[in-house]
Amino acid sequence: MATKITVFKGDGIGPEITDAVLEILDKAGAGLSCEIFPVGEAEYERNGALIPEAGLASFENTRVLLKSPITTPVGKGFRSLNVTLRTKYDLYANIRPAKSNQAVKTPFPHVDLVTFRENTEDLYVGVEKEIDADTVHAIKIITREKSERICRAAFRYAAAHGRKKVTCVHKANIMKLSDGLFRSVFYEVAKEFPSIEADDKMVDAACMMLVMHPEVFDIMVMPNLYGDIVSDLTSGLIGGLGLLPSSNLGDTMAMFEAVHGSAPDIAGKNIANPTAFLWSACMMLEHIGQNETAKNIRRAVDETLAAGKTLTPDIGGTATTEAYTKAVIERL
Ligand code: NAI
Ligand code: MG
Repeated sequence: MATKITVFKGDGIGPEITDAVLEILDKAGAGLSCEIFPVGEAEYERNGALIPEAGLASFENTRVLLKSPITTPVGKGFRSLNVTLRTKYDLYANIRPAKSNQAVKTPFPHVDLVTFRENTEDLYVGVEKEIDADTVHAIKIITREKSERICRAAFRYAAAHGRKKVTCVHKANIMKLSDGLFRSVFYEVAKEFPSIEADDKMVDAACMMLVMHPEVFDIMVMPNLYGDIVSDLTSGLIGGLGLLPSSNLGDTMAMFEAVHGSAPDIAGKNIANPTAFLWSACMMLEHIGQNETAKNIRRAVDETLAAGKTLTPDIGGTATTEAYTKAVIERL
């Protein structure tokens, strides 16, 4: 029986990579019944809302959302749609796996790490206050409850995937109370998982280590803002944003998206790399129990990348999005 999912077709390269991914899912025989909604700037111009009510209602019903990137309008008083979705539906665990692919040349052939980013608090609560014309205060919120559930999610994932170590990334030497709480909760949760190694690193030192010896990292867990920045860094280690998928999991709802944005600089040129979004779709298939289909797609992508003939420009090739998509489909 087909699983109902909701699909948001966003801005910029969003529509192109959505078409590519939906075609591959279809040709791979994924058992999906998709409710597709245009979202983002164009939808706003048409109907005055970035996401149509029917799209939200669909997600509340299907509980699984495949979401392509959306442009965050600048200076119009908008809150990022992503932040809104993550908060509204309490999608608290943002999971971003970065793995080297031998077909994509980088200085780091042995990266295999996963970032767990807390998705609902920290400076991202967006509470900023103008004290006077020249002074702004922003509030950073860290709670025991939310630190505990993201740390537990990271350790559970480590246990389920045969991973050896979880590293807490923080700045507790400066943010003594807030990051200090996150770090101490991390070590409390670690006690529940004695077979998994637990350590911690300051976020600045972690960044240095990541660009020198990324292979020492396994699972990393951290507050929201560090997770945003560090996970983009990890995408650079493996060859760019076009290769970094993600899932945003709550207790009952889940959203799957590429880490990258709407890439307006290359939109409409048929050169966007759909791989990150496709791997996000594979994470979605695994989430709904269609593991075999996900495996088939992952293999077809690996073979296409290894063949090297139809790589998109961001990873050193000259192929179009369409040519790459076709090459993946031929290998299914
Ligand atoms: P971006 O991720 O869209 O682009 C950064 C650079 O990476 C650009 O040079 C772009 O061409 C390249 N790139 C990104 N994805 C690619 C792909 N799949 N294939 C090939 N090249 C790719 O970040 P930027 O430019 O800072 O943001 C653009 C817009 O996207 C902004 O409005 C931002 O708010 C929004 N955004 C949305 C996200 C989402 O919906 N999840 C996440 C991040 C940004
Ligand atoms: Mg980001």
